[in-house]
Order: sequence, then structure tokens, then C-alpha cells
Amino acid sequence: MHNDILRVLYTEEQLKTRVKEMAEQIRHDLKGQVILTVGVLRGAVMFYADLVRELDMPVHMNFMSVSSYGSSSVSSGAVRIQYDLEEDISGKNVLIIEDIVDSGLTLKYLTSTLKSRNPAMLKTCCLFDKPERRTVDFTPDYVGFEVPDVFIVGYGLDYAEKYRNLKYIGELKPDVYKSQ
Ligand code: PRP
Repeated sequence: MHNDILRVLYTEEQLKTRVKEMAEQIRHDLKGQVILTVGVLRGAVMFYADLVRELDMPVHMNFMSVSSYGSSSVSSGAVRIQYDLEEDISGKNVLIIEDIVDSGLTLKYLTSTLKSRNPAMLKTCCLFDKPERRTVDFTPDYVGFEVPDVFIVGYGLDYAEKYRNLKYIGELKPDVYKSQ
């Protein structure tokens, strides 16, 4: 796996530090509330698990799965729910936890879908933001790192389902994804 990585963008330590800072900010902003967290499978799993443990406040743990990409690495523009929430969010404080916002299609769709279920609050938290790739207008409430438009993998992010379990974020060598 490591041989396919061109360079390390964020080490395990840097990720840990930033996740901690983000948790502190969220805890400060949402103090005194019970937060219904929504992790977006599967990319957000590592970030989600680390962030909720750093939050150190009452949270409910929920997950959704949506598909935004077709078989290629280019967004098809279509988003659909593959696995929905089991908890009723009406009147609750909801925090969506995502690994990355790219075109913005996934989060735009998710936020408008969840808003229609009448939560008391709806905020979005993304570890990575690639603003250069945006095709729809969307700004997350919390962002860990703004990243350039390169293919990143690790810490939950994949290429063809590989590399999700890397402890760091790496830039994938172009010949890995161009050869397929
Ligand atoms: C990735 C990522 C986000 C979405 C962001 O998910 O986890 O959910 O794409 O892209 P967008 O802003 O262009 O919509 P993916 O569909 O690759 O599934 P995964 O989470 O299972 O890796």
C-alpha cells in the first residue's frame, strides 16, 4: 500500500491534533446540548470515531450511507440514500460528520434532505475540503483542512476501496489511478 503513495500530506499526529481542535471548537459552540451525530459511511468512519471520542459531551451515534459517485472517480451528479437514519431527528441538534467535501453534491443533498425532517439545528463538519472541485454552492460549518485538488487516500478515504486503513493521508501516485 505505502509504495503507491507519492507523499504524505498529513501524518497521524497532525490528524490527531486537528481533530482535537475541531472537537474543542464544536464543544464550545454546542455546549449544553445533546448532539445527534450522523456519520456518512464509509469514508468518514475513522474521522467520526476519533471526533466523537474527543467531543466529550453527550452524543447519539447514527450513520447514513449515500452514493454520490458512479463506477469512475468522477461524480455522476446523482446522490441517493443507501442506508437511512433510524432515529427521528425532528427537534434535535444534528451534526453531520463527513470525511471530504468535493463537488459538494453529497452534502448539499444530505443537508436539504435532513432539513426537511425539521431538526432544531443542522450543522456539517468535514475533515477535508477541496474548494477547487466545487460544482454546487456548499460551505461546511467546520473544516479540518483545505486540500489541493490531488487524489488523497487514507484515514477512511479510498481509491477503489483500497487505502482506507492507512493511518496517514497520502497523495496517491497518478500512475496508480491512471493505469486502471
Ligand atoms: C466520498 C466522500 C463524500 C463524497 C464527497 O464518498 O466520502 O461522501 O464522496 O464528494 P462530493 O462532494 O463530490 O459529493 P464516496 O461516494 O466516494 O463513498 P465512501 O464514503 O464510501 O468512500
